[in-house]
Amino acid sequence: MVQKIFILNGPNLNMLGKREPEIYGALTLDDIAENCRKEAQRLGVEIEFRQSNHEGDLVDWIQEAGQQNAQVLINPAAYTHSSIALLDAIRAAQVTVVEVHLSNIHAREAFRHKSFVSPVAKAVLCGFGAEGYLMGLRALAGFQKSSES
Ligand code: DQA
Repeated sequence: MVQKIFILNGPNLNMLGKREPEIYGALTLDDIAENCRKEAQRLGVEIEFRQSNHEGDLVDWIQEAGQQNAQVLINPAAYTHSSIALLDAIRAAQVTVVEVHLSNIHAREAFRHKSFVSPVAKAVLCGFGAEGYLMGLRALAGFQKSSES
């Protein structure tokens, strides 16, 4: 069965390209999605790339990933720093999660240093810009392979 990875994006990431490019870079979310599609093809995995400004959508999609035995690469955006619902959803769905952030959240305002998602993530990538998404995909593909052997 082809390995499936949900790539989930939280609030305001639909504004990438226009949104504080000095922090988040010049690529749009569509550019990032396209790069992820190419990398997924190279890795031989299937991806589902989604974005929502609503916390409940992200919870629903984590549950859906769990039902499909998929893994999750998530940029929870501002919900990183506030959402117990995302933490609970990841725990309940028992999905393997890699958390990704474009910026280095630890080098920014103190309120961004805390992540509710990190304690339930297998790995965290931050500060690599859009490249972090591709690194996360490669990591998830690698985790799957090592659990098969
Ligand atoms: C972000 C960092 C968050 O603190 C912020 O709220 C975002 C984007 C990042 O990708 O660097 O919206 O997750």
